[in-house]
Amino acid sequence: MGKSTGRDLTQIYAIYGVDDWHTPLFLLAHAIAFSILSVLFLIYFEPICYNLQQLLPGPAYARFAAGFTGSVTALSAVCLFFAAANFFYSAVSLHWEMSQRIVSSVPDWSSVKHALDLGCGRGILLNAVALQLKKSGSSGRVVGLEPTRNRTSFLNPTRTLRTATLEGVQEYVTCRPGDPRTLPFTDNYFDVVVSALFLHMVGKEFGVKSAAAAAERMRVLGEAVRVLKPGGVGVIWDLVHAPEYVQRLHELNMEDIKVSERVTAFMVSSHVVSFRKPSQHFVGSNEVRLDWRFNNLC
Ligand SMILES: C[S@@+](CC[C@H](N)C(=O)[O-])C[C@H]1O[C@@H](n2cnc3c(N)ncnc32)[C@H](O)[C@@H]1O
Repeated sequence: MGKSTGRDLTQIYAIYGVDDWHTPLFLLAHAIAFSILSVLFLIYFEPICYNLQQLLPGPAYARFAAGFTGSVTALSAVCLFFAAANFFYSAVSLHWEMSQRIVSSVPDWSSVKHALDLGCGRGILLNAVALQLKKSGSSGRVVGLEPTRNRTSFLNPTRTLRTATLEGVQEYVTCRPGDPRTLPFTDNYFDVVVSALFLHMVGKEFGVKSAAAAAERMRVLGEAVRVLKPGGVGVIWDLVHAPEYVQRLHELNMEDIKVSERVTAFMVSSHVVSFRKPSQHFVGSNEVRLDWRFNNLC
């Protein structure tokens, strides 16, 4: 297997495995089934045309129908193979690359004392942050929050800590059992808050495209901003909703808001959004308010 930002991909797959592996497997099984069907269409084209002639007005119609169905089947097989490959690639290899990118969006790790990873899952981003803290000789630590038993998979803090041990960064990592939507931390605590592929899942129970889900995502984004220190940096890699986050971050008066180019992950668009919480929050022409929340959160 190839290399991903200096790491052997086989090693990364061996440590983290493929979470939600049934999706690429499901797609692959269908791709194989559709491929077999299209090969059968090619082999038995004439008998298929002959049988279709009993149902359709003439041989030309029968040949067209058989050819069209065979082509659509072959095209579906190609699309399904592509989707399976994209899911497999996004789950670990791209995830690792994007984690490196998130880490490199933070200008100075040496002064970071406390970092937070929202919804740390298997710990790909959590461990990327820990490896960076270790590399930069920082005394900092990174905390991940993960529910003890996830509804959609077998993620849990124990499994996450196992990956940190395999990466040799266990002393830099804490994985706390907890709901990453309600942060059990005081205001202005973390120097860095990061998150990968978590926010878009928030509020799913209300219906993915519902206003309630969007409001819940915005509330959780507000939580991330709340626990960030003035001058702290936030970096979020997420699917689909980047424009929504950017708008909310502007409303919260965040600074240096940057959005990466589009990266296709899990067959949809994704972006890295980074921002900095202002060191001081200006309220009026002469007044400086240090607690930014009173003016910005609804
Ligand atoms: C794909 S994993 C995140 C991966 C992780 N950030 C990493 O870098 O490896 C998705 C995360 O979202 C959390 N999650 C899943 N469904 C959720 C929901 N409905 N509400 C809140 N969190 C959810 C999971 O517990 C998990 O931490």
